[in-house]
Amino acid sequence: MVLVKTMYRNPKEYIDKEVTISGWVRTIRSSKNVGFIEINDGSFFKNIQVVFDSSLENFAEIGKLAISSSIKVEGLLVETPNSKQPFEIQAKAVTIEGMSNSDYPLQKKRHTLEYLRTIAHLRPRSNTFSAVFRVRSVAAHAIHKFFQDRGFVYVHTPIITSSDCEGAGEMFRVTTLDMKNPPVTEEGKIDYSNDFFGKEASLTVSGQLEGEIFALAFRNIYTFGPTFRAENSNTARHASEFWMIEPEIAFAELVDNMDLAEDMIKYVINDVLENAPEEIAFFNSFIDKGLLDRLNNIVNSDFERVTYTKAIEILQSSGHKFDYPVEWGMDLQTEHERYITEKVFNKPVFVTDYPAEIKAFYMRLNEDGKTVAAMDLLVPGVGEIIGGSQREERHDVLVEKIENMGLSKEDYWWYLELRKYGETKHSGFGLGFERLIMYLTGMANIRDVLPFPRTPGSAEF
Ligand code: 4AD
Ligand code: MG
Repeated sequence: MVLVKTMYRNPKEYIDKEVTISGWVRTIRSSKNVGFIEINDGSFFKNIQVVFDSSLENFAEIGKLAISSSIKVEGLLVETPNSKQPFEIQAKAVTIEGMSNSDYPLQKKRHTLEYLRTIAHLRPRSNTFSAVFRVRSVAAHAIHKFFQDRGFVYVHTPIITSSDCEGAGEMFRVTTLDMKNPPVTEEGKIDYSNDFFGKEASLTVSGQLEGEIFALAFRNIYTFGPTFRAENSNTARHASEFWMIEPEIAFAELVDNMDLAEDMIKYVINDVLENAPEEIAFFNSFIDKGLLDRLNNIVNSDFERVTYTKAIEILQSSGHKFDYPVEWGMDLQTEHERYITEKVFNKPVFVTDYPAEIKAFYMRLNEDGKTVAAMDLLVPGVGEIIGGSQREERHDVLVEKIENMGLSKEDYWWYLELRKYGETKHSGFGLGFERLIMYLTGMANIRDVLPFPRTPGSAEF
């Protein structure tokens, strides 16, 4: 038996040899004496053509198979230089493993992405989702390779946590209390002392704070895991459960952080171009026509770097009429981010040094006392894919920031202690994995790059 996994990319090796392939019927047609099946075994993107003829004893039965039946084909792989497929299998035997029904929903026609979301149990078998989820897997591996090759330690930060990293209160609570009738303290707050963990616990919004602990021991670390946000944003870029990659580097400033992020994005693009070429070609033809050119441009040019203050000036002097008026101090809205990255620079842009008030408590205060050493990476088509910063390493400045933001110093006691025992400059960022996949594939909705998207009102599968 020949392992077909590498056959598609190295078919020459198998030409004129007996092969066996088990897979699902993608299309089938037959006439009196001969029939054709396009089979896909999941290990490669494109289908392989199988020719079967009436010398097979179950010829008639094969001809009646419905799409998505599973079969095993044994036969000779031959080159077919004059036809559409470069080669085909001439079947010597076709064994039917599992019949499919004629009401199989994924018939050979174009289905809308919205419809395919309603059949999340079948959509990985469609071309589009086969390509999306292969790219997702290749990109995940590329990220690990990038960091491991550079000696970064992979840290598993907790999923259940009692700290709110972003301080934005967008956490899903994890509790065994009866929340219809919870116990309350004398002050009228929910009393968690008899709860499972003995205190209020939630699903993590970010592994950063725990990542910092490890960076201050291992120097360079990264996390790569699921994160959760109970933000009720019904947009094409927000999910309630998404995956984040969070490197944290010690003895490093904001510029080192940007260099790392830029290197990583370029590395992942190159790796995906090399290891998922059929998939990227598919996206380039059917989903986003300029994709391939764009990806090639990105790896060959420098990302832009501008300060928030400069970005505001650019927006104000652009003459463009924005729905949301532009003034220093505001958070950039999607329309502003898109204008900067798509209209002004037409490439990925790091926006740095945001006003302290609109960013999280842990970001390092700049000398001007007004801005923080923050960086967001904005990319055409998607917007923000990375948020990061240099961290506030000065104990007293950090305490002041925590208090000014109405957070409690006690909740962050261990985070503050890190600033007492061998503190150093350090920096890190979070890359939204799904947003990266959107960028790599041209898919426009986050629901279509998550195998099982969780968004407000939706957790069907
Ligand atoms: O900008 P954010 O909120 O930053 C943090 O969580 C930091 N603690 C990261 C760090 O410095 N270690 O989130 C980081 C990235 C965003 O840029 C975005 O790509 C993604 O995570 N993200 C989401 N992706 C999908 N759905 C959501 N609801 C997301 N919220 C953030
Ligand atoms: Mg952000």
